Amino acid sequence: MAKNERWASRVGLVLAMAGNAVGLGNFLRFPAQAAQNGGGAFMIPYLVSLVVMGIPLMWIEWTMGRFGGGQGHHSTPGIFQSMGKSRLWKYAGVLGLLTCLGIASYYLYIESWCLSYSIYSLLGGFQPPEGVSPEDAAAFASGAPSAFFNRITGQQENQIFAISMPGLVMFAICIGINIFILSRGVAGGIEVVAKVAMPLLLLFGVVLAVKGLMNDPVAEEAVKYSPWIGLNYVWEPDLTQLGNPAVWLAAAGQIFFTLSIGMGSIHCYASYLRRKDDVALTGATTAWTNELCEVVLGSALLLPIAVSYLGLEAVQEQSGFGLAFMTLPTLFNNWGQFAPLAGFLWFGLLFLAAITSSLAMGQPVMAFLEDEFKLSRVKASWALMGMILLLAVPVATITQAGVFDDFDFWVGTFALVVFALLEVILFAWVFGMDRGWEELMRGAELKVPRAFYYITKYVTPVFIIVILLAAVFKPSVGWDGFFRSIGAGEGIPSWEWAGDSVIGKLLHKDLQAPHGASPEVATYYQWLRMIRTFDRLALAGLFLFFSVLVAIAWSRKNTQPKGTGA
Ligand code: PHE
Ligand code: NA
Repeated sequence: MAKNERWASRVGLVLAMAGNAVGLGNFLRFPAQAAQNGGGAFMIPYLVSLVVMGIPLMWIEWTMGRFGGGQGHHSTPGIFQSMGKSRLWKYAGVLGLLTCLGIASYYLYIESWCLSYSIYSLLGGFQPPEGVSPEDAAAFASGAPSAFFNRITGQQENQIFAISMPGLVMFAICIGINIFILSRGVAGGIEVVAKVAMPLLLLFGVVLAVKGLMNDPVAEEAVKYSPWIGLNYVWEPDLTQLGNPAVWLAAAGQIFFTLSIGMGSIHCYASYLRRKDDVALTGATTAWTNELCEVVLGSALLLPIAVSYLGLEAVQEQSGFGLAFMTLPTLFNNWGQFAPLAGFLWFGLLFLAAITSSLAMGQPVMAFLEDEFKLSRVKASWALMGMILLLAVPVATITQAGVFDDFDFWVGTFALVVFALLEVILFAWVFGMDRGWEELMRGAELKVPRAFYYITKYVTPVFIIVILLAAVFKPSVGWDGFFRSIGAGEGIPSWEWAGDSVIGKLLHKDLQAPHGASPEVATYYQWLRMIRTFDRLALAGLFLFFSVLVAIAWSRKNTQPKGTGA
C-alpha cells in the first residue's frame, strides 16, 4: 500500500515535481504581481528571495520529505514528528494539510474555468460568426469573452451569491478528474499525467510565445506597440523600489506560491523517494525548471501580447483575472484564422499547468489518510473529494464577499510564511543543521555550495521573520520616513499596526461601506463581512478537525512515530 509507493522513474519524478511547481502561479499570478509592483523593480527582491529563501527551502523540503518517507510518513504531520522531539511538531505539520486543501478549493475553480475556456475556444467560440458586418464583428469580439466569463461564474454586480449551472458542472467535472487520477496512485496516476502534460504545456507555451513576439507594429495595423516592451518591462532592472517593503512582501509571497514551498506539497512528493536517491540535484532542477517557466515563459505570454495591442499603461491598470480571461481572448481575434487555436493553446496551457499542481495539493491529504488511518487509496480519494466539495462550494457561489481573495491571503500567502518559519527552525535548529546537511548530501549528485549551510541556518529564518514582522507592523511615519530618519541619525521612529495588511484584513478594513452610503449599501457590506467571518471560522474549524485527527491517529497506535535518528 501507500508505504511501498514509489516514483516509477527518474524522468517521471522530475516531471511530476515540475508539474507540482509550474502552475497558474507562473502564467497568471507572476505577470500580475510583476505588473502591479513595478516590473523590473519587482525582479530584484524576487531574485533575492529566490536565492536566500526559495532554494534553501526547496532543499529543506526535499530532504525532510525523503527522511519522513523512510519512516512511513508522506504528509507533514508525520514527517515533522519524525524529525522533532516535541509532540507539538505534528500539530505544526497540520498547517501543511490545511494550506493544501484551502488552496485547492479555489485553485480547482480557476482550473475549471481554464477547461471550459479551452474547449470553447477550440470550438471557435470567441470568433465572430462568418459574414457579419465589421461593426457587429467588433462588438462580438469585445463582448464574447466577458459574456462567457459571466456565464461560467454567474457573476453579477452587487450580488452576493452567484450560481451558474454550466460553471458548477464544469467545476464538478474538474474535481472528478483530479480525484480519479489521485485514486490511481503516485506512479500510476500523477506520474503518468505529468509525463504527458508537461511536454505538451511547454509546446503550447513556446508556440504561443513565438507567435506573440512576432506581433509587428509596422506590418499590422492593430498592433500598436512592440511586444518586447512588455518583456523589457519585467526584465529591465529598476533599483528605485528596493526600499519599499510592499514590493519585498509581494516578491517573497510569489516565491513561496510559485515554488509550492511552505505548504507540505514538496515534502509529500519527495517522500516517495528511496533513502539514497538524490535530492540535491533534483530539488535544484525543480526550482530551476519553475523559474524558466516563470521568468522566461511566464513573462513572454500574457504581458507582451496584451501590451502590443493596448500599451503598457492600459495593461498595468487591468490587473487580475480580467486580463487573462477577458482581454486576451478578445485580442486573439486579431490573429484571424489562428484565433481559435491561440485561445485553445492559452487556456489549454493554463489547464495543464493547473491540473499537475492541483494533484500536488490533493496527494498530501490522501497520504495522511492512507498512512495514519490505513484508508485504502480509493476510500482516501472519496474522503478528499468530500472535503474539497465542502470548502469549494462557498468559493464557487459567493463571489462578492471576496472569499476567494480572503482564502488566497490566509492560506495562500500568510500560512505559507508561518509554516516555512516553523520548518526552517525544525530543520536547522531542532533536527540540527549538521545532521540536516548530512541528510541533504546523502546520495547527492550536486555538491551544494557550503554557503547554503549558513544561509539556511541564519539568513533564511531571519529573512522570513522580517517578512512576517513587516506584514504586521509598520513605522508610524511610513517606510520612507523610517529610512530617512534612520539615515539622518534621528533614531528609530515608533511603530503601528500595518493596517493595510494582516491586521487590516483581520478587521475587515477593506470591506467598509463607503462614507455616506445608503442603509441598503451598508447592510450589503455587513453581509459581506459576516460571510468572510464565516469562511475564516470554516478554515479554523478545518485546522481543529485535522488536529483532532492527528491526535487520534497517534493515540490509537499508541506509539509516537519513530523518534529522531533513522
Ligand atoms: N506552485 C503552484 C503554482 O505556481 C501552486 C501550488 C500550490 C502547487 C500548492 C502545489 C501546492 O501555481
Ligand atoms: Na509555479
